[in-house]
Amino acid sequence: MGNDRIKPGTPTFSASTSYTDLVNLGRAPHQHHGFINIPVYHGSTVLFPTAKAYIEYKQEYTYTRTGTPTSRNFEKAVAKLEGGFGTIVCPSGLNAISTSLLAFLKNGDHLLMVDSVYKSTRRFCEMFLRNLDIETTYYDPLIGAGIERFIKSNTRVIYIESPGSQTMEVQDLPAIADVAHQHEIVVIADNTWATSVYYDVLKLGADVNVQAVTKYIGGHSDLMMGVATAGCEKHYAALKSAHMLQGIQVSGDDINLAARGLRTLRLRLERHMENGIAVAEWLGTRTEIVEVLHPALAGSPGHDIWKRDFEGAGSLFSVRLKPYDDDAVFAMLDHLEHFGIGASWGGFESLVIPFNPSINRTASDWPDKGYSLRFYIGLENPEDLIADLKSGFEVLNSFKS
Ligand SMILES: Cc1ncc(COP(=O)(O)O)c(C=O)c1O
Repeated sequence: MGNDRIKPGTPTFSASTSYTDLVNLGRAPHQHHGFINIPVYHGSTVLFPTAKAYIEYKQEYTYTRTGTPTSRNFEKAVAKLEGGFGTIVCPSGLNAISTSLLAFLKNGDHLLMVDSVYKSTRRFCEMFLRNLDIETTYYDPLIGAGIERFIKSNTRVIYIESPGSQTMEVQDLPAIADVAHQHEIVVIADNTWATSVYYDVLKLGADVNVQAVTKYIGGHSDLMMGVATAGCEKHYAALKSAHMLQGIQVSGDDINLAARGLRTLRLRLERHMENGIAVAEWLGTRTEIVEVLHPALAGSPGHDIWKRDFEGAGSLFSVRLKPYDDDAVFAMLDHLEHFGIGASWGGFESLVIPFNPSINRTASDWPDKGYSLRFYIGLENPEDLIADLKSGFEVLNSFKS
């Protein structure tokens, strides 16, 4: 479905993520009888006043699949929040990622994908793009400008996810984007971890900013959605075309929840960041742990780049454990009261999962054979989380005789 080679463009606006903007973006009370929030438009058919108007097909809303006041106002709010030209809204984060890739790739093209990418994105490359004869090469997340050596004459997209899923490496986006743009390659960035509040990827060189709204914008574990925002009109046209041709549309009820999430995004992120760092620092004092992988902590891979490029941190991070039997690790996690065990993150409640990244890596090594732990820190009191973890470590250590 990809377009012909698209030259990178310049973002039209600069990002603005103040509390005031988050409160006001995408609302128009006086166009809606004074109601503070945009009403939820449920629809399929949209009526035209006359047969001639239908043939001309020029009215603002023509068919629900192509947009409603609910969806268009949310798109505009996100585009402004992200400092971009335009946004598409998709039914999941993964769908925003796949639609973005399909917008810029066609058969015979080559994609450079970060090795630490979210595993379902990797699966899309291996099981879908491969069938379209689109080749994917995985690169080390810490490669920086060294990415140039992997560029081929048919490389059309470089994909970034910073920090990396689970292993949390922060990438040198400006250095990679610089190289990419010298070769007229489009840079797509998964910006779910920090959101545009803390990481202005379009300003730092990405051409498309993708986020799983499911996580922090949704914020309450009751919503699946994704957005992709292009920095310039040309890239937006490519996104919009891939979105429209696939017939993607999201329910107004879900968009209403996502718009509500925007209002408190910055406030929640600040508390998540504070809690996340408090728990991560405490974990760093524990003898059971080899390394805490949290971009805001010194020593974490890419920490200096995080300090340079980010204005804050998400509350998702990982720890490498000393070698323990799987049963001991599972017993520790099962014992925790304040940490649910499950995929996804971004809600108000803390989560933990065991993981082994070596299963999903091909271009960079992972040092451990056993499980590491990925924590997501919610809005609870950090001292309650720490007390819970302390008791979990007692269970872990009880397995060592
Ligand atoms: C970094 C990242 N990007 C994208 C996604 C996909 O989002 P969704 O679950 O909404 O498809 C996830 C999901 O966990 C994720 O962690």
